[in-house]
Amino acid sequence: MGKILVTGGLGFIGSHTVVELQNEGFEVVIIDDLSNSSIDVLNGITAITGKTPVFEKLDLKDKPKVQSFFKKHQDIEGIIHFAASKAVGESVQNPLMYYENNINTLVYVLQELTGLPKANFIFSSSCTVYGQADVMPITENAPVKPAESPYGNTKQIGEEIIQDTCKVAPSMKAISLRYFNPIGAHPSAKIGELPLGVPQNLVPFITQTAAGLRDCLSVFGDDYPTPDGTCIRDYIHVVDLAKAHVVALQRLLNNEHKANYETFNVGTGVGSSVLEVIQSFERVSGVSLNYKMAPRREGDVTKAYADTTKANSELGWQAKSTLDDSVQSAWLWEKEIRNL
Ligand code: UD1
Repeated sequence: MGKILVTGGLGFIGSHTVVELQNEGFEVVIIDDLSNSSIDVLNGITAITGKTPVFEKLDLKDKPKVQSFFKKHQDIEGIIHFAASKAVGESVQNPLMYYENNINTLVYVLQELTGLPKANFIFSSSCTVYGQADVMPITENAPVKPAESPYGNTKQIGEEIIQDTCKVAPSMKAISLRYFNPIGAHPSAKIGELPLGVPQNLVPFITQTAAGLRDCLSVFGDDYPTPDGTCIRDYIHVVDLAKAHVVALQRLLNNEHKANYETFNVGTGVGSSVLEVIQSFERVSGVSLNYKMAPRREGDVTKAYADTTKANSELGWQAKSTLDDSVQSAWLWEKEIRNL
């Protein structure tokens, strides 16, 4: 099996994808700068798969180092590019850092990739590109709306850069996967999400509150036009999401793609409200969660859930885990790292 480069391979989604790639027999090389991840994740990957991937600590902003890395690894057959910053609020405070971290690095990687004989590329995009879509569920044809934040903008610009590159680089083929809301952890509880500081995302905030690290979860808004007044999202188990990367890569490697640049929504197709996620957590954990209603958070859309028809039919992929499965795995992981 070919050699696959995973940038950001020690991060949350990256590490789960490395596990699935190794399970399928791929040889994996990871680049990560450890800015938002831990070297210990390598041990988790090894414990699950019985194989330690090649790891190089490398900051993709360092162009000469990126160039020399690729000189050593001309036999790479595909790249799954996770490495990026992803905190919406931070991106509003520090837009240039986001453009440098997410755009400069993408350009450097593509400059090297397009010089390789096999230039297969999978990009971590986000449903954030749709903004508040007018029609639910969201198909890939829904219009891309003006970005709400520099972070969101880096995903839109990133997709455009890749698309433009695919038009001219003869060997280049790419797929952008537009993730909905990834949650959960590997069922072994050997890898999972490791948010730095106070979590911004719902599920890690829930599990940290239940573990005693936070006092109370604030539910951001209960006056949205939804059945229970709280926002609706499509929460997808990170292992299902990881598997979507593997099948997308295989589509390119096997020349099964229909165009040199394609996009796929990756979600479950099921929308769940914030209160439904809390109820799911209480059901699977048996823990009563301390939460309160709070004002809306700026920039939140009312609802976003995926139409997964295209991924189901063309990638032959479907999310298997239910919300309860995903939330339970997140809780198992939280208990594991807190020694509960
Ligand atoms: C967020 C980002 C999105 C990004 C994704 C990456 C925003 C506005 N959007 O998605 O662009 O791609 O993370 O992981 O930041 N909630 C609470 N209390 C909390 C935390 C969240 O009620 O303490 C609610 C939110 O209002 C939202 C839902 O839970 O309705 C999910 O929030 P979150 O997990 O942050 O995901 P998104 O906002 O959908």
